[in-house]
Amino acid sequence: MPEVTVPEGFEGRYSLPLIEHVEDSAEQIRRKQERVRALCAERNAILLAHHYQRPEVQEVADAVADSLKLSQAAAKTSANVIVFCGVHFMAETAAILLPDKIVLLPDLRAGCSLAASITPEELRKWKAKLPDAVVVSYINTSAAVKAESDYCCTSANAAKVVRAIPADRTILFLPDKFLAEVVARQTGRNNIVAYPGYCHVHKTIRPEQVVEIMDQHPDIELLLHPECGCVSSCMSKALDGTLPQDRTFFLSTEGMLRHIGESSAAEFAVGTELGIMHQLNKKYPEKTFHPVNPNAICAFMKTITLDKVIRSLETLTPQITVPTEIAHKAKRAIDRMLELA
Ligand code: 13P
Ligand code: SF4
Repeated sequence: MPEVTVPEGFEGRYSLPLIEHVEDSAEQIRRKQERVRALCAERNAILLAHHYQRPEVQEVADAVADSLKLSQAAAKTSANVIVFCGVHFMAETAAILLPDKIVLLPDLRAGCSLAASITPEELRKWKAKLPDAVVVSYINTSAAVKAESDYCCTSANAAKVVRAIPADRTILFLPDKFLAEVVARQTGRNNIVAYPGYCHVHKTIRPEQVVEIMDQHPDIELLLHPECGCVSSCMSKALDGTLPQDRTFFLSTEGMLRHIGESSAAEFAVGTELGIMHQLNKKYPEKTFHPVNPNAICAFMKTITLDKVIRSLETLTPQITVPTEIAHKAKRAIDRMLELA
C-alpha cells in the first residue's frame, strides 16, 4: 500500500496510523475467519463492517454497508456484542443507540480526520454567533459534537434531512464543506452555513483526475462521494457540459452499489476510498470500475485486521462507551435522522 501523506489544515488534530502490511496466505485467512465466526457465535456477537475495510474483514462480516445502514443494523440487532469494523465515530453511534450492549472497536487508532476537524467547544462558539440556526451534523463527528446538534445525517440522507427543516431557517452544516456544497446544490437552499472541515482522503480526489479519466473513457458513468475535494468543480462542469450531466452522480458508498445495480452502464469511474472496490467487483463482476484516485486509502479504516478482530472478541476489548448525558443528547439527533431515513 502507498505511503500515507499528511494533509494540510486540520492535521495537528490527529495522527495517521501506518498501514500494516498483512501477508497471510489464503489458508491462514480462512482459518482466522473461521475463528472470528466461532467467537461471534460464542459471544453472541454481530460483526459490522464498513465498505472501506480490508477485503478479508468485509468477507467475515454479518453486514457490509455505509454509515447509515450500519447504524440501522446496529439499532435493530439482538446480539449482545457489536464488533464495529469501521472507525471510532461509527462505534460511538452504536454505543449511543445501544447503551446496554458491548460495542467493540478492534483498534482504537481507527479515528477519522473529518470527525477530528470540529470539537464541541468550537461548535458551541459557532452556535453562539448564530443562535437561531438549526445544527445539522454529519455522522462523521464525535458523540460530544452530536450532543450539541439538532439533526444528524449521513451522505445517504443529508439532502433529505435538510429538506425536512423549514426553508426559512439558517442551517449550520458540519463538518464537511464539500458535502455541504452538494447538499446546498441538491436542495436549492442558500442559507446553509458550512464548517470548513474535510476528509483528508476524499480531499485528494481532484477535478483534474476526474477530467483525465472521463477523457480516457468518454462513455462511462461518474460516481463521486460527496466528501470529494472535486465536487464543486464537477457540479459546475456537469452544468456547463464539460462533464456529462446525465452520467454524473454524487452518492454515498451504499448509494454507489445500488446505483450500479440499477444502471445499464458497463463502466464506471469511482471517486471514493479504494476499499469499496472489493464489494463492487464482487457484486458486479461483469462491470468495470476505474478508481478516480487509486491512492485514496484511509489509514484509519485499515487499522482493523483479522488478528485484531480475534483479539477483540477474545478479550472483549477495547470497548467503546459514551457518558450517559452526552449519549442521551446525541441520540436525539441520531433518532431524528433515523426517523427520516
Ligand atoms: P458512507 O459510507 O456513509 O458513504 O461514508 C463514507 C465515509 O467516509 C465513512 O467514513
Ligand atoms: Fe474519516 Fe475520511 Fe477515513 Fe471516512 S475516509 S473514515 S471520512 S478519514
